[in-house]
Amino acid sequence: MSSIVRTSALALALTSATLATSALAQVIATPQEHGEHQQEFVHGAPQVPSLEWTIAAGGRIYDNWWEALDRDAPEGTNPVYPVSINTEQTGEGTWRCKECHGWDYQGKDGIYRKGSHFTGIAGIMGMQDAPVEAIVAKLRDTNHPYTEEMISDAEMLRVATFVSKGLIDMRRFIDYETRTVNAGDVERGRAIFQTICAACLGFDGRAMDWGAGDAHNFVGTEAAELPDEVYNKISNAHPGAAMVNLSAFTHDDRINLMAYISQLPVGIDD
Ligand code: HEC
Repeated sequence: MSSIVRTSALALALTSATLATSALAQVIATPQEHGEHQQEFVHGAPQVPSLEWTIAAGGRIYDNWWEALDRDAPEGTNPVYPVSINTEQTGEGTWRCKECHGWDYQGKDGIYRKGSHFTGIAGIMGMQDAPVEAIVAKLRDTNHPYTEEMISDAEMLRVATFVSKGLIDMRRFIDYETRTVNAGDVERGRAIFQTICAACLGFDGRAMDWGAGDAHNFVGTEAAELPDEVYNKISNAHPGAAMVNLSAFTHDDRINLMAYISQLPVGIDD
């Protein structure tokens, strides 16, 4: 009898705790951390890599190779970065593939055709479906001063596989005037989000917050403002984080997920 009373008192306490947390999203501060047991998933490689794993691993190198590969960040500005054209970007960021070619792989013809990331450098869509050897040759030319200590040949093969097999023309689902998502099946996206992403992000996408200070950056905020960047994160995962990715899902399903997450709450009070 007394145990039943205690159980229902506990149930009541749990219910009010749940109510309290859903009224205000429970935010954690360090979403990037991962445990020792996840080191292999985050930075290592499987013994028999699938094409889907290889594409996602290459996509994370494209995003930020030193975070993806657990290396030291490069020192100073990339010597081939066009500092005379863009004076805003300096330091380690200029070594990221995405900084010159864009999150949408379209370089000067895409999202980076204007604004603080403009370089005038071409995109990489022209090498979609190209043989990986031809892509690796480009990645070892003078436009790309990466040493083998920075990115090894085996790792370059992953990036090349991503360039050959992992790209998509984002004009399929992003309005380039407003930089917002304009395609996808929200209900299918809801199903994917609730069964996969919500494990870490919560059902309303506010269990993780990348905002600094008083600013709140939830997955909904990011998807509404930077859909091209978020598409890379959902396809390949965030470099250095124990995050799942949708590389084994079709691009259509990833677009469906974008449609759903771009209408999640963007602020703490929504
Ligand atoms: C500092 C700027 C910069 C960075 C960073 C950079 N690239 Fe490039 N990349 C270039 C330039 C410049 C070219 C030559 C573009 C041209 O032909 O007009 C190029 C060409 C390419 C091409 C050939 C495109 C084609 O159609 O011929 C590919 C593929 C490519 N880069 C991939 C990458 C990848 C992958 C990374 C990261 C490992 C990377 N780039 C990092 C500047 C950069």
